[in-house]
Amino acid sequence: MSPIVNRYTRLVGVEHPIVQEGLGPFRTPKLAAAVSEAGGLGTVSMPGMPEDIAQGARTFRAHIEECASLTDRPFAVNIPVGVDSSGKVLPFTDVYIRTALEAREAEPEIARRLRVVTTSAGFPGSYVAAIKDAGLVHQHKVGSTRQAVKAAAAGVDVVIAAGFEMGGHAPSKAVHTFVLIPNVTEAVDVPVLLTGGARDGRGLAAALALGAEGVAMGTRFITSTANSDWHPAYIQALLDAEEGDDVAFDGVYGPCRGLRNSASRRLAEAAGHRGGAGEMGQVELTRWKIESMQRAQTEGDVTDSLVLTGQVAAAIRDLVDVAEFVPRMAAEAAGILRSLAARLGSVAS
Ligand SMILES: Cc1cc2nc3c(=O)[nH]c(=O)nc-3n(C[C@H](O)[C@H](O)[C@H](O)COP(=O)(O)O)c2cc1C
Repeated sequence: MSPIVNRYTRLVGVEHPIVQEGLGPFRTPKLAAAVSEAGGLGTVSMPGMPEDIAQGARTFRAHIEECASLTDRPFAVNIPVGVDSSGKVLPFTDVYIRTALEAREAEPEIARRLRVVTTSAGFPGSYVAAIKDAGLVHQHKVGSTRQAVKAAAAGVDVVIAAGFEMGGHAPSKAVHTFVLIPNVTEAVDVPVLLTGGARDGRGLAAALALGAEGVAMGTRFITSTANSDWHPAYIQALLDAEEGDDVAFDGVYGPCRGLRNSASRRLAEAAGHRGGAGEMGQVELTRWKIESMQRAQTEGDVTDSLVLTGQVAAAIRDLVDVAEFVPRMAAEAAGILRSLAARLGSVAS
């Protein structure tokens, strides 16, 4: 039985309002399927921006197919809306949105499971109609109340409000979850998910208390036994992280949070030269960052490559078993809310 049923669980068709959010540019079909199988919503991540974007599309399609072959339950894809310095949407976004829609059209078994598109980074206005017409739920991740209002007005079904402590691509205005989430839930009528810093039932209970209807996590799911696609050294570096070991550096779409190491220091030094690019051009620098992130994940180079993680890594010491963890987290949140209500009752009487 689902301990927490609300607008979000009904809209998406999941048992628990717990999402494994996009972890691009990395491989997450197995992790996504494990989270969906556990009653949450797993997400297949975007596979990067290779020079050969057709190859990127084939990889993305293969990841979608792999996830669909591993679960019968709903899952999502995450596609950031990349924007260049003139405000133009980068070609990879169009290509990956098209890839997801075509995969559903071609295969009814994928259409039955791939039920949600989560956009992030830039404004997704030009994709709302296509996603809705395909019968998909559209979630969009925002870093400010202004972006949340704009996305809801454009017709997205769910807003994911991202606090600055989050892992990976962080909002450019450094607003933290405790301030952002209630602002967003007051400002929009659609269901809101909290992302950034959640790791257990206490985080989910807090999200519900702030007016959100669920949580979307990254770091907690990276550190799970289901995440067998990532190099063990990457996962160990997150388990070993202490408070203060993370830093927000200049990422791909804006700030990016990861571990403080020689690669993040190199970026900080480069930012001191020629508008951030240092000796490299902007495109070259972006490609270097993505390749560096991927090297950390595939080769386990955690000292000289960019290791993305949320601040919450400092509070995580163990790997969880996703199948057991997701329902336990939902039950823990419901239990906390019930016991708080009961304690208030006894104070009042
Ligand atoms: C390794 C890593 C990669 C990420 N990649 C993406 C991405 O491609 N697209 C995106 O929207 N968010 C990305 N994020 C953010 C997550 O989807 C999620 O919002 C974030 O991890 C939440 O913060 P938490 O790590 O404290 O749970 C990434 C986060 C991490 C840690």
